Amino acid sequence: MNSMFELHNLLPAIITIAKEYLGVKRISLMLIEDDYLKMYAHAGFEVDQSSVNIRLGEGVAGKVAKTGIEVTANKSDIVKEVLGYQASSFMSVPLKKGDKVLGVLNLTDKEDDFFTEEDVKIARYIASQCALGVDRFNLYSDMRKSENLRVIGMLNSSIAHDIKNLLNIVQSYLELMALEKDIKPEMQEYIDAIHSEVKRIHGLTMDILDFSRQRVSMAIETFPLAELFDEIRKHANIMTRDTAISVEVSVSDDIIMTVDRGKIFRVIFNLVSNAIDALSVSGKVTLSAVKDGEYCVIRVKDTGKGISSDNRKKLFQPFFTSGKAKGTGLGLAIVKMIVEAHCGTIDVDSEEGVFTEFTVRIPYDYESVKELHRQR
Ligand SMILES: Nc1ncnc2c1ncn2[C@@H]1O[C@H](COP(=O)(O)OP(=O)(O)OP(=O)(O)O)[C@@H](O)[C@H]1O
Ligand SMILES: [Mg+2]
Repeated sequence: MNSMFELHNLLPAIITIAKEYLGVKRISLMLIEDDYLKMYAHAGFEVDQSSVNIRLGEGVAGKVAKTGIEVTANKSDIVKEVLGYQASSFMSVPLKKGDKVLGVLNLTDKEDDFFTEEDVKIARYIASQCALGVDRFNLYSDMRKSENLRVIGMLNSSIAHDIKNLLNIVQSYLELMALEKDIKPEMQEYIDAIHSEVKRIHGLTMDILDFSRQRVSMAIETFPLAELFDEIRKHANIMTRDTAISVEVSVSDDIIMTVDRGKIFRVIFNLVSNAIDALSVSGKVTLSAVKDGEYCVIRVKDTGKGISSDNRKKLFQPFFTSGKAKGTGLGLAIVKMIVEAHCGTIDVDSEEGVFTEFTVRIPYDYESVKELHRQR
């Protein structure tokens, strides 16, 4: 059992065997995720939605999960009092790794009416083995995540250097083109556009490098936020060209930022790209910015598919992607890292099928806020 890493196959298999072995009518195994106990495997009954997620501390299983203290009730009147419904006997055993409770094993209605001491011992043993399996699975998942980061790190250091060299060559050719006589004004416009995109790819390479080293290098400059929003608007218009998606941008001209322009561009660009992806063919994306004390509050809202509360918890984790054919799941992890490096915060609000809104708070003047943070 402890060599199996597929928890979703392992737990139902254990539950089925334990149900037969202990001779109970109903059995369930629930694991703790954040503040909830979630049903992972069950046998002998249909699950109704209200019992899939139980808040820690609520109901018998919720209390066992919170306190780590096992509950056994062998008389039907006591069971009714404890459970709130009729059953001959009941047992709820915590899954523990050291002092940490990982979940709960629930057994209801023993066929001979009550649990013997032997049954209790067996149930404890099954719970302890499940806990071991769950703990190993968690350890394995963490290892996979850090292994991914390690591979990205290796990949980056070997290719980032090559990308930079190649970009330098492109840049040199662009400069040569700009020296040509009789360049039409449109051609000059195209050359400028390629120039700025090349700079952007360079910045993106640096972001990914920063990400793999978990360190952000900053290049601070002062500029009007309206200028940056204008660039985003142009990109968004290109991305939504063949769709019925409208992109509305509102920002006042007096918001002047002193931050890493390239990085903040990528923050907003990532959020707007995700918003457009969430709409697929029609709907509205709104990008806005307002002042709030020494902070600037930037909001990106879309009328798209929304994000489930389960997914909302994982959004900023590296490699979390869902519902996309080509997502790498690094976008929001990088966004968060950049925002926090600017002493800012990012929050998300969403209703499935209705809307999603990301709110970024960053200081206008990163240098002065950084100084304040340092003094504190
Ligand atoms: N505005 C949004 N509406 C609905 N879901 C969203 C929104 N923004 C993010 N998500 C969800 O969060 C996931 C993670 O986003 P993230 O930007 O980190 O990765 P990605 O877009 O999948 O890949 P990439 O690395 O290419 O950006 C997305 O796959 C999507 O499921
Ligand atoms: Mg993305």
